[in-house]
Amino acid sequence: MMNQYDAVTLIRKKRDGHELTIEEINWLIRQYTHGDLPDYQMSAFLMAGFLNRLNESETSALTQAMLYSGEVVNLDHVSGKKVDKHSTGGVGDKTSLLLAPIVAACGVPVPMISGRGLGHTGGTLDKLESIPGFQVNVSLERYKDILACYGAVLIGQTKEIAPADKKIYALRDVTSTVESIPFVASSIMSKKLAEGIDALVLDVKFGSGAFLKPFDEATELAQTLVGIGERFGKKTIAYLTDMNQPLGRTVGNWLEVEEIMECLRGDGPQDLLDLSHLLAGTMIWLGEKADTLEEGIQMSREAVSTGKALEKWIELVKAHGGDASVLESGAVSPHKASFQMDVLSISDGFMSAMDTFELGMISVMLGAGRQKKEDVVDPAAGFRLHKKIGDNVKAGEPLLTFYTNRKSVCESAGTRFLNAFELADQRPSPPIMVASVVDASGIRPYRSK
Ligand code: URA
Repeated sequence: MMNQYDAVTLIRKKRDGHELTIEEINWLIRQYTHGDLPDYQMSAFLMAGFLNRLNESETSALTQAMLYSGEVVNLDHVSGKKVDKHSTGGVGDKTSLLLAPIVAACGVPVPMISGRGLGHTGGTLDKLESIPGFQVNVSLERYKDILACYGAVLIGQTKEIAPADKKIYALRDVTSTVESIPFVASSIMSKKLAEGIDALVLDVKFGSGAFLKPFDEATELAQTLVGIGERFGKKTIAYLTDMNQPLGRTVGNWLEVEEIMECLRGDGPQDLLDLSHLLAGTMIWLGEKADTLEEGIQMSREAVSTGKALEKWIELVKAHGGDASVLESGAVSPHKASFQMDVLSISDGFMSAMDTFELGMISVMLGAGRQKKEDVVDPAAGFRLHKKIGDNVKAGEPLLTFYTNRKSVCESAGTRFLNAFELADQRPSPPIMVASVVDASGIRPYRSK
């Protein structure tokens, strides 16, 4: 029964541009997960699928096979619609840390399984772990308990969740087969669907700091993700959002936690707040605690202005073993970089463009991120931007401040930063944060009301 197919025939079929059946894809994934198909044959299949793209039904079949390679968490013990958010990643993207407490404070359970930073993008787990004591590696039993008791939970991927994806992703990484939309979408969705969610909000970034930079490619990814979610019976909404500059003003794990504390206290950068309220409002609406998106956004704003979201955040930090005293206003910072340096502007003008990928790589250089999975991140490292697109800049003014324990990299990081932005004579029009929305009915431009 197990050998009803033969790998060489299936690889050839895909290599020659033919469609594989659900059963064939299932067989390949099952054999590989159980160690009965060698890496070299899975690599050949991945390359064939990369070159002769998987179609919609193959992508669905791959998602399903990876999803059921492990446990699909049952969260029936928690009442209400469970809703999560996934972002395709960016620089300074810290919205998850705001959404979990805001949405939970509005009565919608948020089961969140997140990842670590790699390359130019940061990761939610690294940000959470910059809070002393915060445990992200918990069992699925504890995951269910924290969600039931506190209304939200934030953990890392466990061995039970989509193990086939874990194995295949590692292989894609070393066979140059990552950047295929069907592979990316099935990888993301297999993990999200395994969390036990009822609905999902997706933040798909485009622009210089995004995983897929061209708007068209990001749009295709958003449509593929939404298509998969809906086919699996989950209400799924994606926003296409701008990543041509970092979100908010800070990049770096502890600096970003400090920034979300500002937001939860009713302050914080407008772009970060606006995007967070949109995503949270959508989650609240999909969680059926608001009748409309606008009402969801209003509830999100009120959760912050009344202090309920902050209260919930402190509860969540403690539930995960974190030391909430470091989050009190005026508390001594647990992570102080031994070196700080301002980068000053050489000329006058208006900030008009940033190479956000490069900014992310500069944060890695300062110690805030990883080049390889095994690298250790420094929670104190990162930078604070003083100027964003559209801001007026005078020669001699600080553009950003570096925080690092690697003094020796500051000079070259400063030079890299000075080459990573452009100044214009005229003030450019401000970037539009949310370009489009994709749902079951299709894609349309996003207009806030
Ligand atoms: N993130 C994932 O989870 N999978 C991919 O393939 C790419 C990004």
